Amino acid sequence: MTTENSQGRERWSSYSGFIFASIGSAVGIGNIWRFPYIVGTNGGGAFLVTYLIVVFSFGLAFMILELAVGRYHKTSVVSALQRIRKRFRLIGFVMVGVTLAIVSYYMVVLGWIISYFAITILDLNLSFDQFTGSMYPVVAFLAIVGLNYFVIRSGIKNGVEKLSKYGVLLLIAIIIPLTVIGLTLPGAEPGIEFYLTPDYSKAFLPEVWSVAIGQAFFSLSVGMGVLVTYGSYLQEERRSVLKSSLIIIVADILIAFMAGLMIFSMVFASEMDPAHGTSLVFRVMPAIFSNIEYGMFAAALFFLLLFLAGITSSISMFQMPVSALEDAFKLDRNRATLVITIAALAAGIPSALSYSSVDLKIFETAVFDLVDRWFGTYGIALAAALFTVAVTWFMDRKQLMEQINAHSPVRFPGWTLSVVRFALPALIIATVLSQILQL
Ligand code: PHE
Repeated sequence: MTTENSQGRERWSSYSGFIFASIGSAVGIGNIWRFPYIVGTNGGGAFLVTYLIVVFSFGLAFMILELAVGRYHKTSVVSALQRIRKRFRLIGFVMVGVTLAIVSYYMVVLGWIISYFAITILDLNLSFDQFTGSMYPVVAFLAIVGLNYFVIRSGIKNGVEKLSKYGVLLLIAIIIPLTVIGLTLPGAEPGIEFYLTPDYSKAFLPEVWSVAIGQAFFSLSVGMGVLVTYGSYLQEERRSVLKSSLIIIVADILIAFMAGLMIFSMVFASEMDPAHGTSLVFRVMPAIFSNIEYGMFAAALFFLLLFLAGITSSISMFQMPVSALEDAFKLDRNRATLVITIAALAAGIPSALSYSSVDLKIFETAVFDLVDRWFGTYGIALAAALFTVAVTWFMDRKQLMEQINAHSPVRFPGWTLSVVRFALPALIIATVLSQILQL
């Protein structure tokens, strides 16, 4: 049984519920795993400046657009785009497909994380290769999909909002002491220097900007229609989308920044190699924790932190296609959740198997990496570019600007839209081209 009647869509129980859910979506594995490593390898403090510029210009503009479209149309992405032009529903379906592909492999990583939490607590001696070579990742993936299914089925208020609120609060309660532990370790200082000392030789390289843009979009959860979906459950309260976006963005940046302090102080205190890239979390961090006092406890907290960050993001990506089905095909929530769960399972199992003993590969590349490249990079860019064009070129200009400026402390003049119309799609295309050329 769903709680809403035919005209009454579900709603967040409060504005703060919406803010917690959106922060939960933005703060994810991207903040704690990817951000520190990207800052470290792209010029440290100088990259931070580039990143802040990108986030507060294009990232902010995109977030405002998504929230405004969702709140104005009060419906999720397929049906919202369809209202602009009938055939734009196709763009909505592209966005649904991209989000489904991404959430499916995101849940594989979440499976690794929850397994590492268990491995730490049970004190099992298992290397990363032994672990991924076993069938545990598949079992863990199924468990994560099951968890997402139950949360989404419980609805916006009782599922998504509750989980996000407690998840985000607990995450903050964990990341602060872990950062303090890191900073107070003997030998942490060079780590902070490595993280923050600007290397301006990199600041003007186009590839550094393209990395910053990719990371900013992924970290802010924009480009996939997730925030259109969250915005569509907002009431007509007297809040501005600008203010909401700023709150979400500042929280996202602060947590990513803290994660960097925590990780680099720990890596340097243990004299490990900071340029370990993506294996940092599963190979290097466990080794580091085994060297510090109460390391097992800290390790368990660290994996719990990653899990909380990730689950509140995966829920948001899972909710997006579920809402799309509900709104576009008038399916009830239970049925829509079931359909998307089956689709996510089908899409995720190959990724879950790609590092396991089955060693699933297509053309010599692990399926996981293929999905990451094709959907995580190009798919998001395609979805984001199509969405911006549909909204900024074809949605009624007056309605869009009114929605953006409603209750806002500052009013965006009409010409800002004219700039965004050209700048956002051009920027997204330039980013993808620069990444393709580097291959
Ligand atoms: N922002 C999340 C992270 O940093 C990932 C995400 C992207 C979630 C897009 C929802 C939509 O990990």
